Amino acid sequence: MLRKLVTVVQVATAGAFVVFIVMLFRTPAAVTLPDMPPSSAPDGQQSVPVEMAAAIYSGRCASCHGAAGEGVYAPSLAGSASTGRYPDPGEQVRIVLEGKGRMRAYGGEINPEQAEAVIAYVRSLPDP
Ligand code: HEC
Repeated sequence: MLRKLVTVVQVATAGAFVVFIVMLFRTPAAVTLPDMPPSSAPDGQQSVPVEMAAAIYSGRCASCHGAAGEGVYAPSLAGSASTGRYPDPGEQVRIVLEGKGRMRAYGGEINPEQAEAVIAYVRSLPDP
C-alpha cells in the first residue's frame, strides 16, 4: 500500500518535471513587427469587424484620445482631425504599431489588421 503511494508520488513528480522542462523551452519568441502586409480581406471589406475595432479603441485608446475620439491628453483622432492631417491612413496605422513621440507602440498588442480597423473606425467618427 505504502509502496504504491510512493510510486504514485514518483510518477507525479516526474510528470511535473517534464512539464517544467517543456515550459522552459516554450517561452514566446520576441515580438517582431512584420512589414505591413496588404490586408488579407477582399477589396472594400474589413477583416476585423467594426464592433471589434470600437472595442479595441475604447479599451486601449479612449483614455488618452477621448471616448468619441475628441482628444483629451492626446490629439483628436475623430473624422477630419485624422483625415485632414493624414490623407493616407497607412501613416496612422504605422504610428499605432510603431509609436511616435509620446505615443507608444502598440504593435506588440494588436496586429496590423486590428490597427487598420481601429484607424478606419476613428476616421469614420463624426468630427470633434
Ligand atoms: C497613454 C496615452 C495614449 C494612449 C492610450 C494612446 N495614445 Fe495615441 N497618442 C498619444 C499621444 C500623446 C500622441 C501624440 C504623439 C506625438 O505627436 O508626440 C498620440 C498620437 C497618436 C496618433 C497620431 C496622431 C497625430 O495627429 O499625430 C495616432 C493615430 C494615435 N495616437 C492612435 C492611437 C490608437 C489607435 C490608440 C489605441 C490603440 C492610441 N493612440 C492609444 C497618447 C496615447
